Amino acid sequence: MSKILVTGGTGYIGSHTVVELHNAGYEVVIVDNLSNSNIKILTQLHAITGKWFDFNEIDLRDENAVKEFAAAQTDVTGIIHFAASKAVGESVQQPLKYYKNNFYGLINLLTSFNRKIDFVFSSSCTVYGQPDSLPVTEAAPVKKAESPYGNTKQVAEEILAETAAVTPELNVIALRYFNPVGAHETALIGELPNGVPANLVPFITQSAIGKRGPITVYGNDYDTPDGSAIRDYIHVVDLAKAHVAAIKKLEQKETSSNYDVFNIGTGKGSSVLEIISAFESVNGEKLDYNLGPRRAGDIVQIYGDVTKSNEELGWKASLDINEMMRSAWEWEKYIKANPF
Ligand code: NAD
Ligand code: WQD
Repeated sequence: MSKILVTGGTGYIGSHTVVELHNAGYEVVIVDNLSNSNIKILTQLHAITGKWFDFNEIDLRDENAVKEFAAAQTDVTGIIHFAASKAVGESVQQPLKYYKNNFYGLINLLTSFNRKIDFVFSSSCTVYGQPDSLPVTEAAPVKKAESPYGNTKQVAEEILAETAAVTPELNVIALRYFNPVGAHETALIGELPNGVPANLVPFITQSAIGKRGPITVYGNDYDTPDGSAIRDYIHVVDLAKAHVAAIKKLEQKETSSNYDVFNIGTGKGSSVLEIISAFESVNGEKLDYNLGPRRAGDIVQIYGDVTKSNEELGWKASLDINEMMRSAWEWEKYIKANPF
């Protein structure tokens, strides 16, 4: 049973991935500094899996702490690196916070685990900006980032590619996620947004439960069938499973190169208005929403070509937007009844 280090393992995507790694028979060790997650997630993970995971409260910016941890964890064969700061708007206000957290963490991990290691990195479709053609493939050019956050993902990919090129024992896959939404089917884990959610689906669920006012649809005059912007929403459990597939792929050592990139989405675009309407119909809830102006920095539409991940990772998303909206709503209701 291989042992996988999950950084950011008490966070949104990390916690779902811990469950899927466990289900696939992996041993898991978690590192998180709890800067954007709650220690109670460990209890939730125990309720889902029956397992108390090895949790280490470490800040990845602390080089000595990471070195010490790596030296003690000699049996770790793979790392899934989620830990990062991720709020696009905040990154514009506090660029140094983002450059420090997202780069120091990555660099400290790579220097401390300087041995034979499989490494899966959380990248983002944000690296494509507004692609020239859709669906966007991994071969599309990386566009100049719109935010320091987006820039950290682009540069982190370069750091990994350049390091892998001169480090044969480092075996890397960067996963470019599209828009992760939804929650675990048990409703015991899900997204815990900090403050007013900037992202669409947590805003919808918080508005529906009465925690926020009406939803504003940012733009209804885009050149899309209904005028609202289009994204490739992916269920967080499908996304978590993609990480297991990536670790398996790295373990098989089939690739000629030791650095590769995969799109992780459904391949299907949904508009903001379609998401609102799916939420309403699947949950039998009426949403209060207004049509507002476009949001600065937003792209019109993006959805991924997922042929490469389907064929080479043997992974395919299976949950549709109805299941995304159903599970997101169950989680919001759970959190209201059981506040963290
Ligand atoms: P999250 O904030 O829920 O999880 C990140 C976790 O990392 C948190 O638990 C946080 O406490 C921890 N962390 C942050 N800095 C740390 C540090 N210095 N040391 C130790 N732990 C630290 O975010 P998420 O949505 O689960 O995202 C996970 C990863 O996926 C991030 O790298 C994010 O940039 C990337 N990503 C997210 C999305 C999205 O829309 N959620 C899309 C594309 C990529
Ligand atoms: C989705 C759509 C909004 C809120 C961001 C990051 C990206 C990635 C995922 C990490 C857009 C519209 C939203 C609202 C709305 N994260 N919207 N009303 O902007 O695609 O991507 O999260 O890597 O880097 O930029 O996601 O959920 O914010 O927005 O109409 O109240 O919903 O305009 O069209 P986005 P989102």
